[in-house]
Amino acid sequence: MSYLDVAGVNKRFGGIAALTDCTFSIEPNGISCIVGPNGAGKTSIFNVITGFITPDTGSVTFKGHDLTTTSRHHRIESGIARTFQNLRLFEELSVLDNVLTCLADEAGNNPLTAIFRPIHTEAILRAKREKAREFIEIVGLSHKIDDLAQNLSYGQKKLLCIARVLATDAELLLLDEPTSGLAAAALDAMVDMIHKLKERGKSLLIVEHNTQIVRRIADEVLFFHRGTLLAQGKTEEIVSDKELGRIYFGEDH
Ligand SMILES: Nc1ncnc2c1ncn2[C@@H]1O[C@H](COP(=O)(O)OP(=O)(O)OP(=O)(O)O)[C@@H](O)[C@H]1O
Ligand SMILES: [Mg+2]
Repeated sequence: MSYLDVAGVNKRFGGIAALTDCTFSIEPNGISCIVGPNGAGKTSIFNVITGFITPDTGSVTFKGHDLTTTSRHHRIESGIARTFQNLRLFEELSVLDNVLTCLADEAGNNPLTAIFRPIHTEAILRAKREKAREFIEIVGLSHKIDDLAQNLSYGQKKLLCIARVLATDAELLLLDEPTSGLAAAALDAMVDMIHKLKERGKSLLIVEHNTQIVRRIADEVLFFHRGTLLAQGKTEEIVSDKELGRIYFGEDH
């Protein structure tokens, strides 16, 4: 038993095989990067692991618990959370409220408590805001805490996504292209952030297109192509493999 085990996963969408017989394991407290050409199945495997799609066959096991058919919410409670390639922020809510909506559930959510124990409820809300503030500080957005998400730069929005995923309190974080579309400075900030997450004890599975970034962050690399995991290994071994390079840069670009 490993930390995260994906075994024999297949997923078809009509005539398209999005994932074909995917089997791999991830160890804790590392940074594993998923690379591969467009349409390789990278987001699809994230969707399977986090419960956004159900595989036709195969299983997802986390710390020995079979999560294959469990709800997205249950998976977050079990310790797996994700960010999205297209961000999915609440654009019309503030930075603080975007993070508050992701905070792990605690006692005090019962509406009757708010009516019969208002002081208790007020204390809980204050504690939640305090926690949210801490996550916002970790990603360096304290100066933007009351701004609407829609008024942030793209790089700041991506950092807000990290604050949101941290707020779930999950230990395994799946980040779908956290550096895509970022200019040099924002990109460096995100790379630093990713290292910081690892230092905080998180385990990371990251979809990353940029080979230079992969070299800077990954402990290991999983190479997907046409829905299949072609190779998994140490970063340099995979990134410098000529045949994989030809598939990545030659055949599909
Ligand atoms: N919900 C869906 N319905 C139909 N086809 C889908 C669906 N999700 C994914 N696919 C198809 O499955 C294949 C894999 O898609 P996926 O989004 O996993 O690729 P990807 O590696 O994340 O690509 P990209 O680098 O462009 O983000 C593609 O051919 C895609 O069109
Ligand atoms: Mg994708």
